[in-house]
Amino acid sequence: VSLRPYNTFGIDAKARLFARFTSVDELRTLLALPEVQQAEKLILGGGSNLLFTKDFDGVVLKNEIRELEVIGHDDASNTALVRAGAGESWHALVEYTLRQDLSGVENLSLIPGTVGAAPLQNIGAYGAELQDTFDHLEAVEISTGHLRTFTRVECGFGYRESVFKGPLKNQYIVTAVVLRLRRQHQLNVSYGAIRTTLEEMGLEGDPTPANVSEAVMRIRRSKLPDPAEIGNAGSFFKNPELSQAKYDALKAEYPDLPGYPVPGGVKVPAAWLIEQSGWKGHRRGAHGVHDRQALVLVNHGGAQGADIQNLAQEIIASVREKFGVELHPEVNIM
Ligand code: EPU
Repeated sequence: VSLRPYNTFGIDAKARLFARFTSVDELRTLLALPEVQQAEKLILGGGSNLLFTKDFDGVVLKNEIRELEVIGHDDASNTALVRAGAGESWHALVEYTLRQDLSGVENLSLIPGTVGAAPLQNIGAYGAELQDTFDHLEAVEISTGHLRTFTRVECGFGYRESVFKGPLKNQYIVTAVVLRLRRQHQLNVSYGAIRTTLEEMGLEGDPTPANVSEAVMRIRRSKLPDPAEIGNAGSFFKNPELSQAKYDALKAEYPDLPGYPVPGGVKVPAAWLIEQSGWKGHRRGAHGVHDRQALVLVNHGGAQGADIQNLAQEIIASVREKFGVELHPEVNIM
């Protein structure tokens, strides 16, 4: 089976076996099949954070569990619980919450991928992260087929991190996510670009969650390539965290270096380091670096995953040489 329609980089890798499931029961049935038990397994959501560098000699299980529902209200905290099937598109969930007049995920509008993939890397953008509104999730243990609940604390969220990328990697399949959202709006417009975009839209007065969502969509569309047009997986690298001492030393040499304080140091934009190393807009045949966001690697059509991986290695080496900073991929490389 060609995986090309199932990864936003548009890489033409093949999988030996491929199956879809639309419920927990179907998933359990699949997991009980001997050919599935014996094979290496890849759980696929939207395929938006994935780079195939070779064919996959195992079984791809595509999560298509659908559900969007308000399952409860809490009057004391003025919040509502929204439950979403892991196979729903993340942005469809955001739109659903806006239709319910709930706030909390509007800053996460238009992030590609599925609901089930969101907790794996604690998706984040424009001053918000999934963990801010996350209540719990349900997941099936691959070895036993048992359904288990994980609270926010049990998910071990960090910057683009969770327990499902660490100690529990490849052990659970997320089947549903439950968010706790605010009925009384409380918007996060701390990110400068959101404020200026709302001003441009004439909405700086008293914006609604839908207004903030619209602003975020405008910002994203202006900088990030649409995977339907140009293959990509969003930010290819994480933003590195430097010690204060390392940051101060670099800042002395490069006064324009941006930085955001985080516990234990300073986070710097990888996009800045990559752009200053001369890579922004670099093109090499069918692949390259996006011309409006240096953190995004792109497939203009027909690129091989290994080409993109090689380019990533060259970028890592050149940023290391120029700044002495190590970049780490954010994308899952298969
Ligand atoms: N910058 C450059 N050159 C560029 C782009 C950006 O120098 O080509 C510098 C600028 O100084 C800019 C700063 O980088 O102010 C930050 O840029 P931006 O706001 O675009 O955010 P980012 O740090 O590059 C992160 C996330 C994105 C998320 C945006 C917005 C990571 C790895 N990436 O990118 O998430 O949308 O913030 O909040 O944390 C993703 O994870 O796939 C993703 C797209």
